[in-house]
Amino acid sequence: MTAVGDIRGTTTDRRAVIALLRRLRSGEGHANPLPVWEEMRALGDVVRAPWGGYFVTGFEACSQVLRGRNWLVPDFAWQERQPDPERWQAPATQEMTRTLIRLNAPTHTCQRRALGNPFDRGTLEALRPGIAALVSELLDDLAEELRDGEADFVRTVGERLPVRTVGRWLGLPPEDYAHILDFTHRQVYAQELLPTKSELAVSAQATLEMRAYFTELIRHRRAHPGNDVLTGWIHYWDAQYPDDRAAADQVIYDLTMFITIASLETSAVLLTNAVWFLTQDPSRAAWLRAHPQHIDDAVEETLRYDPPVWLNSRVAAEDTVLAGTPVAKDTTVHVLYGAAAHDPRRNPDPEVFDIRRGGGHLTFGGGAHYCLGAALARLEARELLGQVLERFPTLRPTAPPTYDTSRVVFRRITSLKVTT
Ligand code: HEM
Repeated sequence: MTAVGDIRGTTTDRRAVIALLRRLRSGEGHANPLPVWEEMRALGDVVRAPWGGYFVTGFEACSQVLRGRNWLVPDFAWQERQPDPERWQAPATQEMTRTLIRLNAPTHTCQRRALGNPFDRGTLEALRPGIAALVSELLDDLAEELRDGEADFVRTVGERLPVRTVGRWLGLPPEDYAHILDFTHRQVYAQELLPTKSELAVSAQATLEMRAYFTELIRHRRAHPGNDVLTGWIHYWDAQYPDDRAAADQVIYDLTMFITIASLETSAVLLTNAVWFLTQDPSRAAWLRAHPQHIDDAVEETLRYDPPVWLNSRVAAEDTVLAGTPVAKDTTVHVLYGAAAHDPRRNPDPEVFDIRRGGGHLTFGGGAHYCLGAALARLEARELLGQVLERFPTLRPTAPPTYDTSRVVFRRITSLKVTT
């Protein structure tokens, strides 16, 4: 068995993987990652990463990693066992390691149980009219901007709907939305695959701002409780830690901060992609307008075709074998959501955007860490598409989207210029 950090595999394969990662981090890669996914899969279901560990490319192997009990998320305990634990010392990395996505049982189970299903059917039904109204308001703004001929869909609608939706749900003051978006855009670099020093510095500054913001928000909400989700969490965690206010505050902070930032850029990419994929081909939009019963299918195909999160990591809980490759305990594997969704063994002709495909994807992850906000993101996308198709029958892009190309984990679309 190989240890983490060992570099194995053939030199040719290593060079090929490095070149593919470079391509992914380029404008070309973000605009069309499909050739990269295909070439990566051609190297195997499980491909050596140049710095040790593996990329997982096949749908079944990715699904097995996300759902299997013998895979864990890389938590503090795992970091400490590494030969270079200082690699994870950056403040923003440490901050993220305390959140749900980096917790294993029993702490993870305890927090997920406490949260339950925050977007169950009843809650979604109650949220739906408010979200429909938010969409309508934002589309009024889009109509206003389009009077000048062209508008940026991302700035006007794509980034604003998620922050307004989660903001209302948690009771965040609307005047803070711009600030929240701003530090979210800068904080995510620490979650990149191999962040540079300067990216970590940007992320550290954003983390300080984020901590100051949410700490003050929670302090204020304690003093002025409302009828909102955050007030509910304060009551719940105060009861769990009756003699330790600091411990309660820490959990409430971790949850509020993480759920907010986890919901923003991810949903913005889904919403923007949905509009981009539909409106770049007028016949596609016209078909969906005539068949609105397929709007949910269009959302699913958007999620499959171009996942907002490209990569997620797990570590082997014990020596194991993945798709025929022996993987030693503690070895990291990086699940490639896009490569999995374009695996022709799961989705035939994967390069075709086919609303009626009924295909499979892992875009919201799987198993114990399955995305908590999947139903909310789908609801936002459904409401948006329904109203866009009705109100803007001739909406079309004037140029392809632009991307923050430095990211390969959490993606960000920086603009999508549209006209009517
Ligand atoms: C299109 C939008 C979204 C995408 C693509 C997305 C994707 C993901 C992915 C890939 C994971 C990791 C799953 C895993 O490790 O197996 C995740 C986890 C999570 N997501 Fe989302 N997400 C989206 C929207 C949201 C929203 C709207 C919220 C909250 C309102 C949210 C909250 C969370 C939370 C709290 C977790 C951590 C769950 C855990 O570790 O137990 N996400 N999401």
